[in-house]
Amino acid sequence: MDTLRDKTVVVTGAASGIGLAMVRRFAVAGSKLVISDIDGAKLKQALGEATELGASAVAMTADVAVESQNQALFETAIENFGQINVVCLNAGVQGPMGQSWSLSKDDYEWTLGIVLGGVINGVRTFVPHLVDHGDGHVVVTASVSGHVASPFNAPYAIAKHGVVTLAESLFHELQMEQSTVGVTCLCPGSVKTNIANAAAALAPGSTGSTKGKLGSQILEISQRAVEDGLDPETVSGQVHDAILGRRFWLFTDNSWDDPIAARAGEIAERLQPRFRAPNFG
Ligand SMILES: NC(=O)c1ccc[n+]([C@@H]2O[C@H](COP(=O)([O-])OP(=O)(O)OC[C@H]3O[C@@H](n4cnc5c(N)ncnc54)[C@H](O)[C@@H]3O)[C@@H](O)[C@H]2O)c1
Repeated sequence: MDTLRDKTVVVTGAASGIGLAMVRRFAVAGSKLVISDIDGAKLKQALGEATELGASAVAMTADVAVESQNQALFETAIENFGQINVVCLNAGVQGPMGQSWSLSKDDYEWTLGIVLGGVINGVRTFVPHLVDHGDGHVVVTASVSGHVASPFNAPYAIAKHGVVTLAESLFHELQMEQSTVGVTCLCPGSVKTNIANAAAALAPGSTGSTKGKLGSQILEISQRAVEDGLDPETVSGQVHDAILGRRFWLFTDNSWDDPIAARAGEIAERLQPRFRAPNFG
């Protein structure tokens, strides 16, 4: 694929943050857009922006965790544009934070259902179509949290490790099929979006809430990192270029390179795991 002009691009989690920035970037590139999110009101605004930028676009409210809603999104895209070229499986939530033993089964299931289940649903729904016509690319939004084991963040980090593994499995399988479909595994560091605020906004005690004092403190730290993070527009530019460049790994910055390399070294040497903070310097 040497241009995104006139290609049909599906984006999940398109109403905010990185997904919304992708919508803007692809609209400017001349793509046809199928945008989706669980938040219908914000999605409507995103659709307005995309059309103002000149894109031919449709929007559909859908929950990535529900298989049938992924299928409905696929059908909407095909009905409107006939073919899908790029799928950005991007929707995600921070989920509850706290000690792994203090979080409830619901906390784990809710986070895993969206963050990992959403990508599994997306791959199963969209990839067969891309493989059939061959002119396609899958962008999976993982995280640096899919490469290191951070404390107090087990549901999210487990899910993101799964997303990284799924992206790599998919890549190997497509290579073995000699498919021309490409894969990009987007691993953002900190990006200035609504993700940490969305977690804080959930009612305490409800499924998906942030648990207890420790959880709140950790959430505060992650909110600060996100506030100081990269502009989502920078990330969407990187995504655009990674698709055209057929790049698999897309790290948005290098602040987690040392902890990731150190972890790999510890595993090779059979050393005890050590938690290392990223280098934001
Ligand atoms: N912001 C960061 O620092 C950062 C770092 C690493 C990875 N990520 C990942 O980037 C992706 C986008 O997050 P963001 O930072 O732009 O956050 P965001 O909260 O600004 O946007 C996420 C969007 O996903 C939507 N969403 C949530 N649950 C959904 C569901 N079940 N079905 C459909 N849509 C749903 C939300 O309504 C929201 O519009 C996520 O996968 C996130 O894990 C973000």
